[in-house]
Amino acid sequence: MPRVETVCKVKDLPPGSMQRFEVGGRAVLLINLGGEMHAVGAECIHGNASLDEGGIEGGEIVCPLHMGRFAIKTGKATGRPPILPLPRYKVWIRGEDVLVDAGEALL
Ligand code: FES
Repeated sequence: MPRVETVCKVKDLPPGSMQRFEVGGRAVLLINLGGEMHAVGAECIHGNASLDEGGIEGGEIVCPLHMGRFAIKTGKATGRPPILPLPRYKVWIRGEDVLVDAGEALL
């Protein structure tokens, strides 16, 4: 199954917003952090909450279920209860399109 997909247009995801997409069967959360696009796993490592229903505070995603926090740029857990990081995926812009490769998580 191909895991590289165009998920949206740049203009569809303004700075400070995030949206969930399914890319090659994986749930991916795309975040526009100050004009820079980041892609991480869309489900919280702690209890599988859908992180698109949470919030963005500074450079962190806040889980809607137990308020765990993850750094958007690295995926690292920055606030408990989660300890493990979110997977990160390659994201890039081609023209007006935002593409995500959910084939292999970045280290
Ligand atoms: Fe996200 Fe518990 S499900 S912190």
